[in-house]
Amino acid sequence: MIISINKASGYVGKEVQIAGWLYNKRSSGKLQFLILRDGSGLMQAVVFKKGVSEETWGIGEEITQESSVIATGTISEEPRSPGGFELQVTSLELVQKAEEYPISPKEHGIEFLMDNRHLWLRSKRQHAILRVRHQIIRAMRDYLDDRDFTLVDPPIFTPNACEGTSTLFETEYFGSKAYLTQSGQLYEEAAAMALGKVYSFGPTFRAEKSKTRRHLTEFWMLEPEVAYMDINGDMDLIEDFMVEVVARVLDKCGEELKVLERDTSTLEKVTKSFPRISYDEAAKILQDKGTGFEYGSDFGGTDETVIAESFDRPVMIHSWPADIKAFYMKRDPNDKSKVLAVDVIAPEGHGELVGGSQREDNLDELRKRIKEHDLSEKHFEWYLDLRRYGSVPHSGFGIGLERTVGWICGLKHVRESIPFPRMMHRLTP
Ligand code: 4AD
Ligand code: MG
Repeated sequence: MIISINKASGYVGKEVQIAGWLYNKRSSGKLQFLILRDGSGLMQAVVFKKGVSEETWGIGEEITQESSVIATGTISEEPRSPGGFELQVTSLELVQKAEEYPISPKEHGIEFLMDNRHLWLRSKRQHAILRVRHQIIRAMRDYLDDRDFTLVDPPIFTPNACEGTSTLFETEYFGSKAYLTQSGQLYEEAAAMALGKVYSFGPTFRAEKSKTRRHLTEFWMLEPEVAYMDINGDMDLIEDFMVEVVARVLDKCGEELKVLERDTSTLEKVTKSFPRISYDEAAKILQDKGTGFEYGSDFGGTDETVIAESFDRPVMIHSWPADIKAFYMKRDPNDKSKVLAVDVIAPEGHGELVGGSQREDNLDELRKRIKEHDLSEKHFEWYLDLRRYGSVPHSGFGIGLERTVGWICGLKHVRESIPFPRMMHRLTP
């Protein structure tokens, strides 16, 4: 019977099979120590020359790194072995003998590893990151599912520019043009008017021409949208959501975070309440520190890092100058130069994780903004309908999955937070 390595504790003293790959090995004349991995964990398999057939001993000698192998044997407890258990091998079956594996335990350059991403995923660190990513997705979805949100999938092909026209990926669409979606938000607004509380979760695309450690051209975004919720409700929701997601990962991914050598003390501080400061207050922090920041402009990566240094948990920045934000954001009734928007900046230099806002719900105002932003009015008629037929105050936000994974795992670059990253200079593998 084939068992998973991470379930070994239930089989002590029993004969089982481990189906996996050779991770590492060492051998003396009489004993072979094969470290096997099966996706669920690592286990040492011990082959004693006198206890096995000549064929099995031969396989143990010949087997190369990443060869696929099925080992049969008895599980015993062994505190010194990875995972705490060991397999006393009775026989080995070589499924395929691997060619010389390009990734060895020595240090490799990042471009080489990225070119071999399809193999690099097998390494301990990458394995841990993918496990944390999976847990983050589960936590995010569970949070919303448990609170009666309905998942509504927006299209990937769209004629609408949601987040400005400079980062659109354009494609031919049967004689007209379509864009790959930058955000599902506009469609989630339609869905919120039908279902009240909704969210989308899927890939989004931006032709980011900058090479930074925070930008991908294809990234996953989770976007909740709620009818009859204002900007303050939005900030409460974001905060509650983020606290719960981080707590879940701390609870479920202790082993993975250890592999990643993540200092979890900073994650443990992610509790209520997050500081809420206005754009003006954030700008003052930068000016007081003498960074040369110009009031009225958007915060760059370095600005975000400097602002974050003043706080021990994610910081929410609200009340943004309208000129540097998206067309759909509602103006602040008390200061028409500002919009009811919020960005959440992560601690430790991981930058903006969340962008959210209350949406403009007035038909004439919204039509004016679409014109001002030079967007195709024809393609926004359907969106304006939402303000013609039962318009209500509503708000939502988008959280970038890869930046969240990068922050929680403590990664230096978002390229490691997605299985197969897409960036300006990377389309393969
Ligand atoms: O701030 P953004 O552009 O907001 C929106 O797209 C809204 N329509 C969301 C909404 O209100 N429903 O993007 C949201 C988040 C960012 O905070 C960031 O985490 C992530 O998406 N993001 C990226 N992640 C990786 N690479 C990129 N190029 C990203 N661009 C945005
Ligand atoms: Mg943003």
